[in-house]
Amino acid sequence: MGIRKLIMTTSLLAMAVISPAQQPAPQETKMDHSVSVIPQPLLLEYTDGEFVVEPDLKIFVKDKSPVAQAAAQLLSDKISATTGHAVKIEHSEPKKEVRNAIQLLTSSTDAALGDEGYTVSVTSNGIIARAPKPAGLLYAAETIRQLFPPELELKSRTGTSPLSIPALTIIDKPRFSWRGCMLDCSRHFMEKDFIFHYLDILAYYKMNVFHWHLTDDQGWRLEIKKYPRLTEFGAWRQEDGKRYGGFYTQEDAKEVIAYAKKLNIRVVPEIEMPGHSSAAIASYPYLSCFENVKEVPSQWGIERTIMCAGKESVFEFEENVLAEVAALFPDDYVHIGGDEAPKNNWKECPKCQERIKSEGLKDENELQSYFIKRIEKVLAKHGKKMIGWDEIYEGGLSPTAIVQYWNHDQYFRGAIENGNRVITSPTKFAYFDYPEFPDPEKPKWMRILPVSTVYSFDPIIEGVQPWQEHLVLGGEAPLWTERAPQPRVEHQLLPRLTAFSEVLWSRRGPKDYNDFLKRLDANYLRLDAMGIKYNPHEKENRGKEQPAPAQQ
Ligand code: ACM
Ligand code: ZN
Repeated sequence: MGIRKLIMTTSLLAMAVISPAQQPAPQETKMDHSVSVIPQPLLLEYTDGEFVVEPDLKIFVKDKSPVAQAAAQLLSDKISATTGHAVKIEHSEPKKEVRNAIQLLTSSTDAALGDEGYTVSVTSNGIIARAPKPAGLLYAAETIRQLFPPELELKSRTGTSPLSIPALTIIDKPRFSWRGCMLDCSRHFMEKDFIFHYLDILAYYKMNVFHWHLTDDQGWRLEIKKYPRLTEFGAWRQEDGKRYGGFYTQEDAKEVIAYAKKLNIRVVPEIEMPGHSSAAIASYPYLSCFENVKEVPSQWGIERTIMCAGKESVFEFEENVLAEVAALFPDDYVHIGGDEAPKNNWKECPKCQERIKSEGLKDENELQSYFIKRIEKVLAKHGKKMIGWDEIYEGGLSPTAIVQYWNHDQYFRGAIENGNRVITSPTKFAYFDYPEFPDPEKPKWMRILPVSTVYSFDPIIEGVQPWQEHLVLGGEAPLWTERAPQPRVEHQLLPRLTAFSEVLWSRRGPKDYNDFLKRLDANYLRLDAMGIKYNPHEKENRGKEQPAPAQQ
């Protein structure tokens, strides 16, 4: 590395470790070539020349971790398919300076880049990516994919022009550590191969949490060996006179977890309770107060029948289910739902009322709090931390619970005041089941959520004090699927995920939506090359009147 380059890289590194609020906008000193990366990297500086891939390109990766290996494989697969020349992976570092190589190095770089940061240097000799941790190499690889022309994403070679990238240096690291997408696989079952594809999309935009909504009223989707009826019966419903459903065996779940791990994605299972539990209750009616639900519902909405909080047998069931879930999912976090639990039955149930009395609780809200806190202890026994939707605030919030804010501003603010950690998913910015533009097929109560509104979101919501900011882990975009069977999921997810990923990854500070749109245009070409059926409305209606963005 020449001295001028070294000085430049060192100064860029120094800038990367100053606080995001102090950082200037990314500098683009030469505009003859330009690249478009989403989410926007922290710093990007063009240098002289370009790197042109030659047929004997090699990738060097010494780090043996699954994530580093996956990063190398990803680049090898893409470049091999596009150029028609197999790109060899060497599991070592080159002994001397090499030409025509991509080097993925986990050593000798700045620890300030953290667990997920990286640098990429492109010169006429090749590409060198450095990261303190393997996850950074994966994100370097995802960025490198976007530095190449969109043809890289075609499944096979179509042109003869060589692949090239302008010379540049990138320094990058995420703003938030929790960058998630939730997929509801209960309302509509998603095939395992589709989940892999979904995870590929998440990783492409540097998302690192797959919140897997596995149970709800309309279907239980995870094999639990102690309770076989959950999937023999609870995974199926009648739809238009036909049996509809499906489930994941524990082996399927292990495959999903392993696939996600290589992409630096944690898998957070959601097992809903005490509400949204009709599929479980239909399988084992004793779980409810009055044993009155015998069929898995096929209509949407909030079911009135929920788990009984008075019967010990319900807690025994949850303990056994969570023991299997905790053994299966290696991540530290388990989501227990906790939302939309109507208390009508609890008011009338002698056992629930007896529990209120014996525990000295004030009302049914406190009974819900009792239920959730007891479940949190069960999870803690397995070394797991509990996440719940924001209603777990009702009746008293445990100080260690993680609250997923979706709908109740007062619960979000209360949780932050209490010192609880929070994941932000407010409906008006993050609900990807909502339509992007007025859609007569969607229910009227659904708010319109255009890309511009998603882009305007900041998880550090107004009113969060500087000393509370560390409590905001990041955000998640929930994708409920009542109206999104598998073929519709890409349409709901994209292009809004491009904006959401930038909200969670890119630097804090004034945003330039027009610059984002320019990069989005380039991104559409990549999505086209991948064959992804994104929603074309933004592209086709750019500049036309759009609904006013929601206020935070
Ligand atoms: C929710 O949308 N019911 C969390
Ligand atoms: Zn009851």
